[in-house]
Amino acid sequence: MSQEEGKRRAGRAAMRFVEPGMIVGVGTGSTVAHFIDALGERRGDIEAAVSSSEQSSRLLRERGIPLVDLNSVGELALYVDGADECDPNRCLIKGGGAALTREKIIAAVSRQFVCIIDPSKRVEVLGRFPLPVEVIPMARSHVARQLVLLGGQPVWRDGVVTDNGNWILDVHNLRITDPVALEREINQIVGVVTVGLFAQRRADVVLTGEDG
Ligand code: 5RP
Repeated sequence: MSQEEGKRRAGRAAMRFVEPGMIVGVGTGSTVAHFIDALGERRGDIEAAVSSSEQSSRLLRERGIPLVDLNSVGELALYVDGADECDPNRCLIKGGGAALTREKIIAAVSRQFVCIIDPSKRVEVLGRFPLPVEVIPMARSHVARQLVLLGGQPVWRDGVVTDNGNWILDVHNLRITDPVALEREINQIVGVVTVGLFAQRRADVVLTGEDG
């Protein structure tokens, strides 16, 4: 099975969690794009979506799915999103698409977080994929120095500005054996907006392309 087919199958498999009348939280990325395609085919069934990025908002609008602001809905029953890496405890690295902050907010307010990945994203230990960290632009160098002290090698994702107007550092060479502790530690650094470790609020369910 190709990686693309794995993404397609995982995206479509998430539809089994969608119930009539739901407001669905929607993540970002190429796997989520398949979920949005499937959601579009059943758009009459759901009430609306809360989107995690401008990119996903555009795709949702193109498929005629109404969008609502998170502040007007409170808790969500379901959030569906992809990931860059997933460990056996369902802890994730996210943010390859630079949408990590809004994604983390939606994950936090959702009762069920269904993560959709192709099988290549499964790892024993997180960290082969560089860990994205969204930073306030003026704090970039400060945050980078602190990340070096934690053993990482931060690289500025030059030219990328997030939907929130911030910048991204991708941290290489980390072997993340305690994701919850590292998430907490990076969150403490002044100037960090969001770290792309989803460990404190991890996925509840992980669907890989192998699920059919
Ligand atoms: C965006 C993300 C994406 O979910 C992650 O990068 C996976 O993307 P894709 O499905 O395209 O491989 O976290 O910020």
